[in-house]
Amino acid sequence: MSNVNSNVSKWSVSSRIFHWISAILLLVTWVMILLYDNLDSNLYIGLHKSFGISLLFWMIARVINRLLTKAPPSVPMPKWQALLAHLTHFGLYALLIAMPMAGLLMTVYGGRPVDIFGLFQIPVFVTPDRGLARSYNDLHTDIIWPAIIAFTLIHIGAALYHQFVKKDNLIARMK
Ligand code: HEM
Ligand code: HEM
Repeated sequence: MSNVNSNVSKWSVSSRIFHWISAILLLVTWVMILLYDNLDSNLYIGLHKSFGISLLFWMIARVINRLLTKAPPSVPMPKWQALLAHLTHFGLYALLIAMPMAGLLMTVYGGRPVDIFGLFQIPVFVTPDRGLARSYNDLHTDIIWPAIIAFTLIHIGAALYHQFVKKDNLIARMK
């Protein structure tokens, strides 16, 4: 077999599905905010919240999957790169869970229930508080979001470095 992927140790099928659907959900959630910012329609902020909450549940399931399945042996690399990779991966998991939680908390502290694709509602489960709503809004837009952008750029930059500079077929492990 001369398949270039045949000697690559891959992530489990479930891990690969979790990875790519998380990336797509993040992209769609962000596009909904772009549409909302430019068209100012309630449709898009509603979809932003629905996809964001979907990503929250997806990430919780992903963490459980990660604990239950085996990761492939890591590819050889300098110690600092392995450390940076682990920190970035852990950071992405934490940020992608914290982000929708901050969004949810800002909304319910603002006194609004969250409608999920018109299927069901998350009720206002806290006592509304303008100050806390504002704090979670700041966390959502000014702290966690820039961190997600930074970590994602490092992550994709590292993937491109492996692909085109080191040429070690790392991306094939996640394909
Ligand atoms: C991982 C999931 C999420 C991502 C990546 C995300 C990302 C963003 C971004 C980039 C903005 C725009 C910030 C800006 O104006 O500069 C935003 C705004 C907003 N998000 Fe999210 N969000 C997520 C989940 C949620 C959830 C679950 C809710 C509510 C249930 C929510 C509610 C909002 C609201 C209401 C705004 C508008 C805030 C404003 O206009 O000041 N988000 N989000
Ligand atoms: C073009 C985009 C992307 C590419 C090419 C890519 C590629 C990869 C690769 C090759 C791995 C496995 C690394 C290894 O085997 O050591 C990986 C892991 C990972 N990726 Fe991505 N990725 C992309 C986008 C994203 C995005 C947008 C996110 C965040 C939502 C993300 C989150 C993660 C996480 C958390 C891991 C670690 C998995 C674990 O240890 O359980 N990736 N990615």
